[in-house]
Amino acid sequence: MLKDQQTLTITNLTDVDSAEIPGQDVIAGLSSNPRYLSPKYFYDEKGSQLFEQICQQPEYYPTRTEASILKASGGAIAHVTGPCEIVELGSGSSTKTRILLDAYQLAGHPLRYLPIDVSDTMLKETAEKLLKEYPQISVHALAGTYESALQVLPKKQLPARIIVFLGSTIGNLTPGECNDFLAYVSQILEVGDYFLLGLDLQKEIAVLEDAYNDTQGVTAAFNLNMLRHLNQRFNGNFNIEKFSHAAHYNKQKNQIEMYLESAVAQSVRLETLDLTVEFEAGDRILSEISRKFDIADMTRALASHQLNVVKAFTDQQQWFGLLLCQRI
Ligand code: AVJ
Repeated sequence: MLKDQQTLTITNLTDVDSAEIPGQDVIAGLSSNPRYLSPKYFYDEKGSQLFEQICQQPEYYPTRTEASILKASGGAIAHVTGPCEIVELGSGSSTKTRILLDAYQLAGHPLRYLPIDVSDTMLKETAEKLLKEYPQISVHALAGTYESALQVLPKKQLPARIIVFLGSTIGNLTPGECNDFLAYVSQILEVGDYFLLGLDLQKEIAVLEDAYNDTQGVTAAFNLNMLRHLNQRFNGNFNIEKFSHAAHYNKQKNQIEMYLESAVAQSVRLETLDLTVEFEAGDRILSEISRKFDIADMTRALASHQLNVVKAFTDQQQWFGLLLCQRI
């Protein structure tokens, strides 16, 4: 039941998104040299659970570090933006967003939240929880890709809007993709609107590599789950036992690279894609890049898209950064 001021709207764009032929990117990636797969294939139900588990591993510092920065800076962010509707890209379970919502509530600002996520079940569950927890909130959830959802954002109902992109998810994008993405965000925002960006920062290599090689093996399970997901999606026969997880830091490119490595010579078939892939022992598939950033470099990149960094927040060790930008 909705309380007086509350509203809940859910827009489902999954039809729009499924217009493209599924799996074309899998064919392209597995046929290319070096082989790669899109990190989006991590996130089936099981993969999303494993990611939540990664976030709780002692070696995986980004989630808790970002949460602590948000706790310390939420008030300042709410003060700078004033009353402002919060659009979140890849909202998931909105755990960290609650910290921001609390800060806006404490500042006496009206609460309007527009989460965007590909999982419509996750969105519905989260929206219902938030309506119970925040008596004044209005929620408009959009189920779809960032692009399709940003394309159809409803008319602004508050003086400003902030697009929030946490967790250093931007690190999954290559420099070229990142540039296109920032251009897109900039074009969606009106002058005076805000963009809040979470960035994992460059640091000692051992700390980075440990974060992607946790001793409990959760990241390995997360990586291998991609193959299970592909089997299920495309009627495939990847033998998960004949692949292993590898993650290392590429110093030249400032990025963690995660691979799925074939233990033996084998051939794999994805039936619905009519695709057969031959592996030699030691052949690898790049399943993810996770770029590590420098605040000054990113500030320049943002500026080239009319996104002016108003404030940069970080933790004591400077492991993670939160950039509050304004569209100028
Ligand atoms: C969700 C993309 C930010 O790059 O650290 C975690 C994903 N992969 N452990 C990251 C991930 C392996 C995560 N992002």
